[in-house]
Amino acid sequence: MIDPQRHVVLVGMMGAGKTTIGRLLGRRLDRAVYDSDVMIEARTGRTVREIFVEDGEAAFRALETNVLIDALAESEPSVIAAAGGVVLAEANRAALRSGAAKVVWLNADIDTLAARVASGAHRPLLDGDPAVILRRLAAEREPLYREVADAIVTVDGRSADEVVEAVLR
Ligand code: S3P
Repeated sequence: MIDPQRHVVLVGMMGAGKTTIGRLLGRRLDRAVYDSDVMIEARTGRTVREIFVEDGEAAFRALETNVLIDALAESEPSVIAAAGGVVLAEANRAALRSGAAKVVWLNADIDTLAARVASGAHRPLLDGDPAVILRRLAAEREPLYREVADAIVTVDGRSADEVVEAVLR
């Protein structure tokens, strides 16, 4: 069930479908949709990749915290597609657990993720062998997604519309 007062935040690995599902969910709920990567790019005028390459991952993560906190502070309930690494910072996890949002973990197996991340211009962490890197990142992050999730939706073998229905249920 979606609480009309609270934001919905989608978390999960790169390739889980957060951006696509976020857009569809925003349409269904008639809510604004925020995407943390898009917010960072709009604020800095640079791409995610440029920030990683020029300033390093730590600088990117600091920007990520700022946009997450700002999106959660919006008074109008929205849908927030949070990038895969948002759960790494304890400050972000605390904000996600604060009650301002229902946090939904879009959970996918590695084969599903690897098949979807082919177009990875904004995913510098996947330069190399994406399947191997995804497996390592998933092992590190799954406990963190679990820690913040109010609901877990499995996306494997489901269409986008089916995932949306599952999130709304
Ligand atoms: C990242 C996920 C990407 C992007 C960056 C780092 C991660 O966003 O923020 O490449 O650490 O998982 P998506 O999850 O939207 O692909």
